[in-house]
Amino acid sequence: MPSPGIAIERPKGRAALEEFARLPYYIYNRRDAWWPPDILNEVDLLAGRSPLSPHIEIEPMCARRNGKLVARVSVVVNHRYNRHWNERLGQLVHFEAMPGEGEAVATMLERAVERVRERGMTAVRTGFAAFLDYPYAIDNYNELPSFLLRGNPPYYHCYLKNAGFETEKGQTDYTAALTGEILERYRGMVEAAARGGVRVVSWRGFGFLAAIDGWTDVTNSAFERHWGWNPVSRAESRTMLSSLWDTPVADLSVLAVVGGEVVGAVFSVPDLSATLAYVKPGMRLAPERGGGTRGALINIGVVEKMRGRGIARAMAAHSFLEMARRGARYAGYTLVLDDNWASRRTAESLGAHVTSNFLTYRRELAGRAR
Ligand SMILES: CC(C)(COP(=O)(O)OP(=O)(O)OC[C@H]1O[C@@H](n2cnc3c(N)ncnc32)[C@H](O)[C@@H]1OP(=O)(O)O)[C@@H](O)C(=O)NCCC(=O)NCCS
Repeated sequence: MPSPGIAIERPKGRAALEEFARLPYYIYNRRDAWWPPDILNEVDLLAGRSPLSPHIEIEPMCARRNGKLVARVSVVVNHRYNRHWNERLGQLVHFEAMPGEGEAVATMLERAVERVRERGMTAVRTGFAAFLDYPYAIDNYNELPSFLLRGNPPYYHCYLKNAGFETEKGQTDYTAALTGEILERYRGMVEAAARGGVRVVSWRGFGFLAAIDGWTDVTNSAFERHWGWNPVSRAESRTMLSSLWDTPVADLSVLAVVGGEVVGAVFSVPDLSATLAYVKPGMRLAPERGGGTRGALINIGVVEKMRGRGIARAMAAHSFLEMARRGARYAGYTLVLDDNWASRRTAESLGAHVTSNFLTYRRELAGRAR
């Protein structure tokens, strides 16, 4: 039994879900710069009204001490993921917690793990769930992380290990400095691919909605056996991405076309720190972190039969050249598994270096005594 004053609750109703979604404000508000949550989308997801809702069960849970919200997590069973991988994996997403709340956090995480077990799952993961959550930072704690990535406090690792989690995967984030010399090399990469019959074209040039379909098909195929991924439908991708048609995403994201067939796809974003991050007044972000000078490649895939021909390199180079043309001095190559050497070598061949590191955790629930 937890100490008196500690209560674990299942938030229900709009006000409670909004309070849940707002917890990060109390954890990160002292930071010079951070990415605040998208409250409306998060509440929709928790209320079962997101494009992902038909595929997942989600149950938010929070811990209070003496009435104050001190930690939160959502228990997810993603049926589409489990069917795809033939697994029975539960996922803990949205984990956030205040410092010095070890007992409340341990109680909440144990209840959350219990819910996963009750649903017949044999393992639980936290720190990566496609389109739902990203891994835990293990460095650069006080810097603005790359877009989409976590900048959690360091004490989260103790909370998670005290709850019986082990490291499942390491991930890295790369950054390339867009110097004159490297941009010249990029032009050579795009030209070499063109000589080999590979046309790299922006989503805008291809036709934005058709490009979303191309991205969906290539990504489903290229990522079929990529750890952590589950397939997505064209309709879902269109719902998630079509509003971006008139933004720089349409110029930075590219497809690779060979003989009329789309064989590669990249999704990239401009520097979003001015519009989406909270930056303390008077604070200037380091140029490699944001402030208008860092674009980011978020996702890259090439269908298996066309790999090893420089297509990924050419697509990323095209995207990075467009970032530079629009004033970026740095390009992120975001989130690569430590053991994904094809992607790591692609990043390295673009002159990028590892600049941040992350972890995903897992706890086995069956077949092991703990
Ligand atoms: C990663 C991926 C996009 C690379 O595509 P690709 O078109 O085969 O890559 P390229 O031919 O442009 O090669 C780029 C560099 O990586 C190297 N490389 C590519 N595949 C490799 C592999 N399997 N092992 C080692 N190096 C590899 C190439 O030699 C080249 O380096 P170099 O310029 O120093 O010679 C492709 O393997 C893929 O779609 N994988 C599945 C999805 C995925 O993992 N995406 C990235 C998620 S972070």
